[in-house]
Amino acid sequence: MKTIHIGTSCPYDVLIERGNLKNSGSLIAKVLSSKKAAVITDDTVGALYSETLLNSLAEAGINASVFTFPHGEQSKNLATLGNIYDFLCDAGITRSDFLIALGGGVVGDITGFAAATFLRGIQFVQIPTTLLAQVDSSVGGKTAIDIKGGKNLVGSFKQPALVICDSNTLHTLPSEELACGMAEVIKYGMIRDKALFELIESHDLDNVLSVINEIVYTCINIKRSVVEKDEFDKGERMILNFGHTLGHAIEGWHNYTDYTHGMGVAAGMCMITKRFCSAEITSRLVKCVEAYKLPASSEAPMSKLLPYCTKDKKCESDNISYIVCEEIGNAEIRRVPVAEFTRLMSEEE
Ligand code: NAD
Ligand code: GLY
Repeated sequence: MKTIHIGTSCPYDVLIERGNLKNSGSLIAKVLSSKKAAVITDDTVGALYSETLLNSLAEAGINASVFTFPHGEQSKNLATLGNIYDFLCDAGITRSDFLIALGGGVVGDITGFAAATFLRGIQFVQIPTTLLAQVDSSVGGKTAIDIKGGKNLVGSFKQPALVICDSNTLHTLPSEELACGMAEVIKYGMIRDKALFELIESHDLDNVLSVINEIVYTCINIKRSVVEKDEFDKGERMILNFGHTLGHAIEGWHNYTDYTHGMGVAAGMCMITKRFCSAEITSRLVKCVEAYKLPASSEAPMSKLLPYCTKDKKCESDNISYIVCEEIGNAEIRRVPVAEFTRLMSEEE
């Protein structure tokens, strides 16, 4: 089993191994002493994996009840959060007990926020079951829900006590969800690791699962190095947003329907690279993105995307930050007035 230690203010380990889920009870018992937990999951993941998890918890003497909500981003809201709090009260969860997030980024984000706030904070474990959640959202402690005003606008930093990644769970992921995670994986290659990029570009969506453990390990290790230096997202952590400023704008333009986050990130990375970098880097990135059945551009006119960019969380005091990778493996944060960004992005090529 591969272990990555995350040295944040509340440190923890990420355990990566095929088949880890069926051993999760004993892995959890090594770091948490309570014998009582609540598992939070969605209907799709729950149907696939909650029985294996519950059996494993029972073998380790951990008594757990399960709260299941409908899958999808539309559940990551105040209503579901309220239902989770009520469930935790009914299940008699106390401050010494813990939560387990079993699912993708939606389950991880809302469970993390529930753990951060229920009884002023209890421990939680992440068991991420999407590629996106394994390489990104389960590590680093960002938790959130969506409100009418926008995605992820209410949340907190809350590091998990343990993250358990089982790449076997990725075999049941629909291919568009695998592609969505690959957009974040390509991002890690672009911002920090040329060898990772080369590994990704030598595979495609149909055969990438054969090297997925190595990919997950490398991506989490990159995320570790970034969040250890900037846990609370004041500076360097922003490089993880490569492609996201335009990506969120494209998602917003599509009203967050029929357009995944990964598609937005992929198109956003390609568009920003095309604008600021060499034809050679752009062509490699575009080819790579297309091998994972992700878009390299957007039909949305730039004039319609820019207003979304200026509403982004990365936009502060009339300045906007965006990330450019002039070389593969090397990212630079650029901060300019919004008007300058608008001018740069609107220029005819
Ligand atoms: P998700 O949790 O909605 O999962 C995608 C779909 O896959 C869901 O329908 C789910 O039921 C299904 N699924 C999950 N695991 C499965 C499996 N093993 N087999 C079959 N189906 C499975 O979406 P996601 O892409 O994992 O996460 C997106 C969310 O993550 C967004 O809300 C985003 O804001 C958040 N996010 C958070 C961070 C962070 O740092 N906290 C980072 C990136 C994204
Ligand atoms: N997903 C971006 C971050 O964790 O900062």
